[in-house]
Amino acid sequence: MKEDKLQPHHHHHHHHHHRLLLRRLAAFSGNNLIRHMSFILLLALSFTFGYFSAPQLPSPPPLQTPIDHPTTTTTTTPMVIPDHDRFSTRCAATPVPSKLIRQTIINRLFNGSSPYYNFPPPHVAHLLRPKRVKGWGSTGSVFETLIRKVKPRTIIELGTFLGASAIHMAELATRLGLKTQIICVDDFRGWPGFQTRFTDIGSVNGDVMLMYQFMQNVVYFNATGSILPVPHSTGSALEALCELGVFADLIEVDAGHDFHSAWSDINRAYKLLRPGGVMFGHDYFTAADERGVRRAVKLFAGVKGLRIRTDGQHWVIDSAESH
Ligand SMILES: C[S@@+](CC[C@H](N)C(=O)[O-])C[C@H]1O[C@@H](n2cnc3c(N)ncnc32)[C@H](O)[C@@H]1O
Repeated sequence: MKEDKLQPHHHHHHHHHHRLLLRRLAAFSGNNLIRHMSFILLLALSFTFGYFSAPQLPSPPPLQTPIDHPTTTTTTTPMVIPDHDRFSTRCAATPVPSKLIRQTIINRLFNGSSPYYNFPPPHVAHLLRPKRVKGWGSTGSVFETLIRKVKPRTIIELGTFLGASAIHMAELATRLGLKTQIICVDDFRGWPGFQTRFTDIGSVNGDVMLMYQFMQNVVYFNATGSILPVPHSTGSALEALCELGVFADLIEVDAGHDFHSAWSDINRAYKLLRPGGVMFGHDYFTAADERGVRRAVKLFAGVKGLRIRTDGQHWVIDSAESH
């Protein structure tokens, strides 16, 4: 405010005498200094005020290495992001024992009550079919090969849809005499517009019945004891499992097939793999790989120095094998 009143006067004064009156000029410079200082003070105050009145967001974790920003806009040097694959801080130091994983998830994600309890709820029962399964390469040989080899206590599946692959894995495990828990991470939204193809999957006020139909399928195949849904986005679910200390022996990646989704899922999933565990996924060779699955898998294997094997349309990365 003071600044506004002073400025025209001093400016005018200066205009008429600046060549002749050195003393005045010196005096002016002094005033100018005060003006600058009060301006800086005002700036600092408004920053301080703005800072304290802004919503308190958690500050981002410090970068391991500072990012080297280009100094001119014409530079041709690519910006190096040294921590592009740093998806979270470390997972819990103590893993949840395999036999406690199911109950831990029920306690922490379902308030202690199994999602199968009192299933199906009356308001959706009439919208479900006793069994409605459809998958994509969901019974390929890779499932049996890997389950026989790894003998997993815990499997994490990213992308479950109606449960074709999950139910297949549950049946394989039972047949092989394994006590395997399959954690099915899916937001159970399918993809935008998927009901134009799956017209028989109903919805209630825009809430598609995908999770309920999946659960109904699990009930039908008598697999509720070994298959547990985690109805969240893969990103938030994998962060939560990492923080809880839920690790898996086998991880199937079959959710979002665009590059960024696949890249994020693969990076996050790998952190949850037990030493010697295996990660694998669909659509390495199908049309969908053009959307990014193969690119993400190759980039990941390259960064980590891991070998990619293929089995039918699936890619396989065994953490025990390296180049
Ligand atoms: C190809 S389907 C999975 C098929 C299943 N593995 C099978 O073989 O029967 C892909 C699934 O990923 C889920 N999905 C896609 N993006 C997701 C995300 N970001 N978070 C959670 N689920 C996601 C969709 O809801 C969909 O059910």
